[in-house]
Amino acid sequence: MNFEGYNFRGQTIVITGGAGVLGGEMACALVNAGANVAILDRDPALADRLKDRLDKGSGRAQVVYGDVLKRETLIEAKGIILKEFGAIDGLINAAGGNNPKATTSDGLAFFDLPEDALRFVFDLNIVGTMLPCQVFGQEMAKQKHGVILNISSMNAFRPLTRIPAYSAAKAGVSNFTQWLAVHMAYEYSPEIRVNAIAPGFFMTEQNRFLLTDEKSGELTDRGKTIIAHTPMGRFGNPEDLLGTVFWLLSDQAGFVTGIVVPIDGGFSAFSGV
Ligand SMILES: NC(=O)c1ccc[n+]([C@@H]2O[C@H](COP(=O)([O-])OP(=O)(O)OC[C@H]3O[C@@H](n4cnc5c(N)ncnc54)[C@H](OP(=O)(O)O)[C@@H]3O)[C@@H](O)[C@H]2O)c1
Repeated sequence: MNFEGYNFRGQTIVITGGAGVLGGEMACALVNAGANVAILDRDPALADRLKDRLDKGSGRAQVVYGDVLKRETLIEAKGIILKEFGAIDGLINAAGGNNPKATTSDGLAFFDLPEDALRFVFDLNIVGTMLPCQVFGQEMAKQKHGVILNISSMNAFRPLTRIPAYSAAKAGVSNFTQWLAVHMAYEYSPEIRVNAIAPGFFMTEQNRFLLTDEKSGELTDRGKTIIAHTPMGRFGNPEDLLGTVFWLLSDQAGFVTGIVVPIDGGFSAFSGV
């Protein structure tokens, strides 16, 4: 993909869950566009698979340990990132996801979903977005500029079957995105923008078990239904997110704050008929 209009040279962007599938793709693309990228993950070794791609970029990448549910690790990571790069201009909250134990199935009724699995999903998606916004957003408040990008989901607009905690948590992420956009602009600086993307269906490790049959590799009924409800007729590829991510991070979106952009091949526009 060609992003010639964008140049992030001299800007530092922190990506939580930056070693994951979607965060990792964003990290490589941003380093390629000249940014300094801090890949924050609870298992930094996961970023090894990205090394070759990161080394080729014109920006620099730093892999730093941080758990989005443990504030002290984020504060420590912030110190390391500031020492290396001097400022934090952007934050992408890409750590998040569902958990199979919080997913209803023929063998697991809604009434029996374990409390710890429900809490896990809420904590990871909501608290795991808010804590980095507090720790890294405070830096933006001090310097009076910055941009935050949260990751919501299709199920924030209308809940999907089987994943009640994930749906509610992502609706919370969209709501929090609007809240924080207003708060940052009012209380600190109109030069701090907060937006979210809502990816549609991307075949990644988190949802493979819902979309494909483990043994045959064929699409499940759910997978087929999704494709049938996606006018563009396919799952998304991680690169499909990049144009919107670049736009929202850049000055070209300088008057855009508090929005949630669907990147879904038309899924959210389609009534099914
Ligand atoms: N894939 C999709 O179709 C899709 C659609 C809509 C929205 N999303 C959202 O997009 C985001 C990224 O998804 P993805 O598919 O790229 O998932 P992913 O590959 O699992 O990436 C998430 C990354 O976050 C890390 N992580 C988990 N818990 C953490 C914690 N407490 N502290 C720090 N890092 C932590 C994971 O590490 P571990 O591997 O060790 O857990 C992983 O490296 C998530 O918010 C997801 O909900 C995905």
